[in-house]
Amino acid sequence: MGFSSFSMTLLLFSLFFLSINGQDLIYNTCKTSSQQDPNVDLQFCITSLQAAPASHCADLKGLGMISIRLTRYNITDTRCYIKRLLNNATKILDPYVKSCLDDCFEVYSDAILDIKQAMKSYISKRFFDANIQISSVMDATTTCEDGFKERKGVVSPLTKRNDATFQLSAITLSIMNILQSSLK
Ligand SMILES: *[C@@H]1O[C@H](CO)[C@@H](O)[C@H](O)[C@H]1NC(C)=O
Ligand SMILES: *[C@@H]1O[C@H](CO)[C@@H](O)[C@H](O)[C@H]1NC(C)=O
Repeated sequence: MGFSSFSMTLLLFSLFFLSINGQDLIYNTCKTSSQQDPNVDLQFCITSLQAAPASHCADLKGLGMISIRLTRYNITDTRCYIKRLLNNATKILDPYVKSCLDDCFEVYSDAILDIKQAMKSYISKRFFDANIQISSVMDATTTCEDGFKERKGVVSPLTKRNDATFQLSAITLSIMNILQSSLK
């Protein structure tokens, strides 16, 4: 496919996205996102976006903001959960697991700063910056998860959470891709 036909496809694609609403917009966005990134589960995406307040009235830009907000809640909640695991006096942690959780706490603390910056970048349409900041949130989740994998027999207590945050971030990246191609 030549460059111009590729641009044309993108353009039609974008017009399509910018002209539909509500339910269909969520479905189409999730469909695209799950195609662009195999880590994104279509059903997870739809369920998450549909459950968010006002998502049915949102346009694509609004949906992106909703997805960033969901990511931020996820990160904040997981950081709090890690803290509770570390401070749980009734449960003596394996030293290796404890060191992994310490690392996760650190990367999640940084991820909170990144997602706050991403929100600002997104609002002011600095998608390039937002992209870097969201990617760094994704890196945080994989860094956290990979720590537990380095030792046999250790099970990460954060797999589901890391996965949810990763997927929400990937959804945001897809939405920004579509928005960016529509601005060109
Ligand atoms: C993360 O976000 C998803 C989608 O909103 C939600 O289903 C899940 O419960 C959240 N997890 C945490 C730990 O906040
Ligand atoms: C602390 O650990 C115990 C034992 O695993 C568990 O039952 C309890 O729910 C934990 N408390 C918190 C606050 O996580």
